[in-house]
Amino acid sequence: MIFSPRWSVLPSRVFLASLLFTCGAALAADGAPRTTPATTTAVAQPAQRPGHSAVASANFLATDAGLEILAKGGNAFDAAVAVAATLSVVEPESSGIGGGFMAVLHRAKDGHNVFIDARETAPAAVDPKDYLNPDGTPNRDSALKGPLSAGIPGEPAGLVLIAERYGKLSLAQSLAPAIRLARDGFKPDPRLREAIAGQQKDLLRWAASAAKFLPDGKPPVEGKLWRDPDQAKTLEAIAAHGNDGFYRGPTAKKLVDAVRAAGGNWTLADLESYQAKERQPISVDYRGYRIITAPPPSSGGVAIAEILNILSGFELEKLDQAHRVHLIVEAMRRAFRDHNDYLGDPDFVKMPLDMLLSPFYADGLRQSILPGKATPSSMLPHRTARDPGMHTTHFSIIDKDGNMAAVTSTVNYILGSTFVAEGTGVLLNDEMDDFALVPGKPNVYGLLGSAANAPEGGKRMLSSMSPSLVIGADRSAVIGSPGGSTIITQVLEGILHFIDGESAQQIVAHKRFHHQFLPDVVDVEPGMFDKATSADLTAMGYTLNDRKPWGFMNVVTWDHRTNKLDAASDPRRPSGSGRVQ
Ligand code: GLY
Repeated sequence: MIFSPRWSVLPSRVFLASLLFTCGAALAADGAPRTTPATTTAVAQPAQRPGHSAVASANFLATDAGLEILAKGGNAFDAAVAVAATLSVVEPESSGIGGGFMAVLHRAKDGHNVFIDARETAPAAVDPKDYLNPDGTPNRDSALKGPLSAGIPGEPAGLVLIAERYGKLSLAQSLAPAIRLARDGFKPDPRLREAIAGQQKDLLRWAASAAKFLPDGKPPVEGKLWRDPDQAKTLEAIAAHGNDGFYRGPTAKKLVDAVRAAGGNWTLADLESYQAKERQPISVDYRGYRIITAPPPSSGGVAIAEILNILSGFELEKLDQAHRVHLIVEAMRRAFRDHNDYLGDPDFVKMPLDMLLSPFYADGLRQSILPGKATPSSMLPHRTARDPGMHTTHFSIIDKDGNMAAVTSTVNYILGSTFVAEGTGVLLNDEMDDFALVPGKPNVYGLLGSAANAPEGGKRMLSSMSPSLVIGADRSAVIGSPGGSTIITQVLEGILHFIDGESAQQIVAHKRFHHQFLPDVVDVEPGMFDKATSADLTAMGYTLNDRKPWGFMNVVTWDHRTNKLDAASDPRRPSGSGRVQ
């Protein structure tokens, strides 16, 4: 269906019928991610090699680590291990070996695309009562701070998997830059110093957290070297012994002892049984490009595919900004409704992915969009719905052979649980809050969940992380962003800007907007809309809400016509770095 300005009065019967269709309760499909049936021409693999490499990450020391490994003969996957491990040291407020990541990899030699799921899992003894106050209200402290908030980390196992199955260098070689920085020290950037200052009260609750982050009783000082010797030793153990260096033996014992001494419930069996997994990514074709993105336990790829399938029936480029934003917001609203209702860990729940990813389902959703008028979220039936902050981190890599790595990594909220396990240097995540811990109550991102995302031992909590590849005949891109629930919409907008022909620099600098079904407002980066567009959107029934911060997106693009790579880091983050070598 093509949008036409004349298509302004939709018969209410059609509207209601399509609402019923879109809310159909048919939970027919199995949980396996499926490729959306191609609605446009199949996209060819890039035929040539770039001959040079590019890395974009949120910290220049991590970008340098990736380039160092590439210069030593490593491929994009070795570089990804180096960048992720280095971010654990230099950007611990966003990600680390005490957290987890999701990655989409493209291997150039055979066109193999794979999703690496290194998401945390709930410990076997997880008890929903631990996240309730005595009066039954949600206990935000246990959900977000201390050992009860931490899932079993996935990042070490994910790095081992990538190095062993996809890398060219040894794990020890790829971890070397991170170990060097942790052991010899580095100068923390302003964002890390501010994160530590902001979380000082909670860091002081645990001796090992205070020892690591407040070395002289206060946050690290500008210009002064900061060392993390315990994390250096833990990284060395992983480099020497792979998974056994973290999930078994002395490190595992220290982790479990520290967690249990502080009131947590991890066991050695939880760590031993953790496995990073390879899954089939979600693929969706849009305007001649193939988008390869994250399947559950991320909600991101399903939502992005659903939104693109809805938008594929409109000619967005022919519309003014207000009408274009209207259609994108309505597509976001409908995708997030489904996100809240259906999605969870594919190893535990059956999800109607065939339905959610179907172009026919998107047709029904598209018909329910009122031209020139917002659909109140309360009018879209659903079975159950903020400060996004800017934690989590994303980096993008393309190497000289055309291998691509999109990696989004997280400890969840800023500085995760703020709990460091004594003797390990490992800052634990607070990913348990990404479960629907208390039915009907939103998490820190304002997201509601259903039983599909209820906590269970060994289950992965739903994520918004959306590392993505966009592959076209003329250009390709590696793209992703942090931002809690706004990850999905920021990555979607980045994909749309790329397909519109924008450069890596333009994509990362773009102002952004977000809608997540509930709350029923459009979050807008200040300056995104001029007065006339804001007035048009308000007249259509939208509530616009100025919000900061946005980003931090890191994008690498490859122009197949010129064979040129480009790397850009979000200008909202001064210490980010995109480099080509
Ligand atoms: N912890 C944020 C996410 O995974 O979506």
